[in-house]
Amino acid sequence: MEFSEQQKEVRRWLERRRGILLAHNYQPGEIQDVADFLGDSLALSMTAAQTPAEVIVFCGVHFMAETAAILCPDKTVLLPREDVGCYMAATITAAQLRARKAELPGVPVVTYVNSTAAVKAESDICCTSANVVPVVNSLTSPRVLMVPDRNLALYTARRTSKEVLYWDGCCNVHDRLTPAEVKACQAAHPEAMFIAHPECRPEVLDLAQAIRSTSGMLQLVRESTGREFIIGTEMGILHTLRKENPDKLFYSPSSHLLCPDMKRISLADIIEALKENHYQITVPEEIRRPALLAVERMLAVPRD
Ligand code: 13P
Ligand code: SF4
Repeated sequence: MEFSEQQKEVRRWLERRRGILLAHNYQPGEIQDVADFLGDSLALSMTAAQTPAEVIVFCGVHFMAETAAILCPDKTVLLPREDVGCYMAATITAAQLRARKAELPGVPVVTYVNSTAAVKAESDICCTSANVVPVVNSLTSPRVLMVPDRNLALYTARRTSKEVLYWDGCCNVHDRLTPAEVKACQAAHPEAMFIAHPECRPEVLDLAQAIRSTSGMLQLVRESTGREFIIGTEMGILHTLRKENPDKLFYSPSSHLLCPDMKRISLADIIEALKENHYQITVPEEIRRPALLAVERMLAVPRD
């Protein structure tokens, strides 16, 4: 694939700064195409932890760059825009989690990586959509508290013998997808396999033939002999799905499956970030150290 002039400039600046560009599967297509590594939250964290690069340019949302900063305090982690938050991460604060923990002494806290560093610092272990069930099962306690995503907790509760208590947060993009929208799409494409993200509501997940993280979806489609797929997650992933599988057809069940924060960064922002060395994401040591423990415990759990 031929790069545009702006993409070439991104690559030149990355070379000059000895940087690596990590992009989430929901990023704009032109950013996905120019990235060194494209992945889900788990794969991006693991890549950040292992890269020898001096500068990590993180194209995703704030909590993802923060996770890289937690794992790599000696590297420069750049987020090309400051205004890329996550609706879900904002549904719980560290003070709220401390208050809930006080009501549940001895109950370990499993925190979805879609959370602030301060919330991670209050947690026993982190999880992502790709490893949540083995993470919960790795704990010895018969009860766990999951934050901040209600839907991920309900998905997990059906797949573990543990009692799952949860915080009532959600992703406003995935939570908005309705069973009626999915059924209408299934009626229009009766041969298509419906793959959903675990951030969708339980009644939507009930209609799915498979439930996967974003990278799990890419892998499933790559390996599938099926030809048509309904994709129950943010529509940015359709770019790479279509690029990797030109002979397969993909449908989004709703025009609302769009995360505005994931679409804010542009190629021009990346060039500016590398030139100006902004916006550097750092985490104060008193938060970083306990947050790192929770992230490292997660990374040590073997996957299914
Ligand atoms: P993944 O870890 O599956 O890529 O999900 C991240 C996310 O933000 C989902 O909304
Ligand atoms: Fe956060 Fe939802 Fe956007 Fe993912 S899609 S970054 S959970 S608001």
